[in-house]
Amino acid sequence: MSVAMSVDDRQLCDAALLASARAYAPYSRFRVGAALRCADGTIVTGCNVENASYPAGICAERTAVASAVAAGHREFTSIAVATESGQPAPPCGICRQVLAEFAPNLRVIAVTSEGLSTEWTLDELLPSPFSPAWLETGS
Ligand code: THU
Repeated sequence: MSVAMSVDDRQLCDAALLASARAYAPYSRFRVGAALRCADGTIVTGCNVENASYPAGICAERTAVASAVAAGHREFTSIAVATESGQPAPPCGICRQVLAEFAPNLRVIAVTSEGLSTEWTLDELLPSPFSPAWLETGS
């Protein structure tokens, strides 16, 4: 919890916290911001975007991935996820799977608006993800 952070990670967490303020979460009122660090150092952010048809909503992490890929980035080194929860919240299972497609070795930092933080590797959060290799039939 809340160990000293590098300048780069602090910047990433700040970007995620800023992005959480842009969340569209009128149903859950649970605002989430995400900031992806791309291999070239660029930061791309996302926020959760809910919908009156509840399952159509999308998480902050996946909007960040979609924005990054649309901007031409496919390699990521870390992601910060910001919430207002009491404890730092890790990405949901679907987001873990989407992140693993592009960055199986990703560092995942969760941060709260109160300044608490926790860090994992994506491999810790999602061991043995379904990966592109499984689509090879071998025939
Ligand atoms: N949410 C995220 O944005 N990321 C996660 O990893 C977990 C959940 C969003 C989805 C929904 O808009 C709200 O938080 C409550 O689940």
